[in-house]
Amino acid sequence: GSSKSAIDVERNIAEQMKLKNKNVVLAFGSQTGTAEDLAKRVSRELQQDFGARTMVIDPEDFEIETLSRIQPNSILVLLMSTTGEGEPTDNMTGWYDKLIGIDNLHSVDFSEAEMIEFEEPEPNEFESDPDYTFDYDNPLANLHFAAFGLGNTTYEHFNSHVKQVSKRLQSLGATLVGEIGLGDDDMDIDEDFENWEAANLPLIGKHIGSTPQSDEDAVTGYHPDTIITEVHEKVDDQKLSLIGSLRPPNNLEVDENSKPKVDAKNPWESTVLDAWQLCSDDNERQIIHMEIDLSEAGIEYTTGDHLCVYPTNYESQVDLLLKLFNLKSDQLITIAPNPGSSSPLLASTILSTYGAALRHYLDIITPIPRDTIKQVLMRQVKSEVAIEYLKSLMEDRELYNKVVVETTMTPGELIESIIALEQKSMVPEEQKMTLDFSMLTDLLPRLAPRFYSISSSNLVSPNKLSITVVVLRYKSTNNIDRFGIASNYLGEITNILNKVDVSGMPGEPSYKIRNVNISEDEKKTVKIPIYVQKAIFRLPSKPKTPVIMVGPGTGIAPFRGFVQERAYLVKQGKEVGPTILFFGNRHETKDFLYKDEMKELFDVLGSQNEESKLFTAFSRDQEQKIYVQHRILENAKSIYELLMNRGAYFYICGDGKFMVKDVEKALVQVISEQGGMSSEAANAWLSDFRKSDKYQEDVWH
Ligand code: 2AM
Repeated sequence: GSSKSAIDVERNIAEQMKLKNKNVVLAFGSQTGTAEDLAKRVSRELQQDFGARTMVIDPEDFEIETLSRIQPNSILVLLMSTTGEGEPTDNMTGWYDKLIGIDNLHSVDFSEAEMIEFEEPEPNEFESDPDYTFDYDNPLANLHFAAFGLGNTTYEHFNSHVKQVSKRLQSLGATLVGEIGLGDDDMDIDEDFENWEAANLPLIGKHIGSTPQSDEDAVTGYHPDTIITEVHEKVDDQKLSLIGSLRPPNNLEVDENSKPKVDAKNPWESTVLDAWQLCSDDNERQIIHMEIDLSEAGIEYTTGDHLCVYPTNYESQVDLLLKLFNLKSDQLITIAPNPGSSSPLLASTILSTYGAALRHYLDIITPIPRDTIKQVLMRQVKSEVAIEYLKSLMEDRELYNKVVVETTMTPGELIESIIALEQKSMVPEEQKMTLDFSMLTDLLPRLAPRFYSISSSNLVSPNKLSITVVVLRYKSTNNIDRFGIASNYLGEITNILNKVDVSGMPGEPSYKIRNVNISEDEKKTVKIPIYVQKAIFRLPSKPKTPVIMVGPGTGIAPFRGFVQERAYLVKQGKEVGPTILFFGNRHETKDFLYKDEMKELFDVLGSQNEESKLFTAFSRDQEQKIYVQHRILENAKSIYELLMNRGAYFYICGDGKFMVKDVEKALVQVISEQGGMSSEAANAWLSDFRKSDKYQEDVWH
């Protein structure tokens, strides 16, 4: 192969496996870190239970051409998320483009795909089969792979990415080991993952020639992902100024000529220009509107895109971990990737503090999965009681669900419960659980960015965008106050900008709002790390095309952008087709989001086209619940006409668990009643309609 010499050793999977003496390589297609975390978990499980020598890689850092030289008794394990309409994740687009071609997105006929020039192995490179000759028609004849996909059945193209990539690898001669796992986020992806692991890891182990290890063997060869290389005695200001580097990297050099690339790996710390509450003070939930500057970074967006925010963890959980691990928040430390680790959490050595690491970098809220209890926590305990306790959680799924999942027990609380148990049982000092910071970097995934539908139009406000957020607070089953990380972080910023200090939970006697002082200068320093994620949620290209939008609650977000844009076009003198929005919330007087603005915008739209209308459904203003789908049924005739005969686009945004399904049911009813069709025929029509560009969803789970 002529291409061989051209590939950098650093980007050559086969070379790296050889150099590092590995027999399993795990590649993740991950957008926000979930697939990456699963890759790490499979890697640990294979190391511990099958003595595998693993290596976790980001496809973006390696060349796909080198897959052909992976040893036949080694294996590639794919952990792949499907995003949006079945697209690869950003870090998989390079491989995907070469394997299949972005234009062939849902195709399983690969005749159109270009042939990659795979690397030809050296003569005698495959020790197990020295007579092997490279076959250009089956360039991956030596490759064995296993795959698990992360998807969601509410999307049309469920797990299509992992299925398509697997098919393509097979068409190039590769052998699938076991079965493709199809994780469904709409149900219980953790359970799907556990089931896939149980059925497939033994097959992977068998392929690489290892057998399950006993518990004692498994403890050897363990390498935490990171190590603390220095706990600094003296703290000088110069060092302190570098601490921010532990936040998601923000190492952009703004070049006059080329726009900086702002993405998940390079978020931009953007100024929060303003934020305010969208509901009345006595509303059960705080709902906020936040405006974020784009001009400094020159970030661009299109109406319908998503904003991704890197949140900051809340103090009570940070404090708990600092206390349990006996760490000082502002202690300066150097953290380095462990050279022996198979999945480095960090790309390079960084300077930070314990507090900053816990606030900005690690997910300290999400309950610890069962396999991680086994892989990480079990190694830290010696006492009989602690071992028994952890074993019972690992082995008894129902107990684990009751103790950990239903109470949304945080990692800190789980560790606290182990410590309390040891104390109660008077475990001697030397047998108590070992608590070191490196363990936390293994135990906890990276703090992932959170997605929000952008609620402004780039035509109307190109230099700033807005988001619409409901601040998530609830009581756990054991009566502990729980807070959504990102929404509370954004809620807190809103409170700061509006000079209010909120404590307690809304609706409780302890709930207080106090005024605090913040200067105008301080206001401008409030920044959040963000990037814009392109979406496929788009207005029709012709303004004359009718649109029907359904967005209850904060599902109104993208439609505020759509409605702003269509009203703007009317003002520009363009002819705009019927624009219909169904919005619902609990109470007209408390949470009618953007009430005045919507009325104004619909006045503009309605002045040109009398079919343009806003329909509202306030669920708790009367005894019987009234939802958006009831309003849809009331308007069955015109909706049918618009969809069937006038080429209308139909959009839904909001809760994907119940609302979307109920709205679809209403739609089927409209079609069957108005069109005189059986419900089977109406369902079939909807299923076809969903596949077209005219039906678009922006849903969350
Ligand atoms: P509820 O909370 O009173 O049940 C935004 O959250 C709005 O969506 C609320 O008015 C909420 O009503 C309503 N909602 C809840 N479940 C829904 C469903 N399955 N379909 C449509 N709207 C729903």
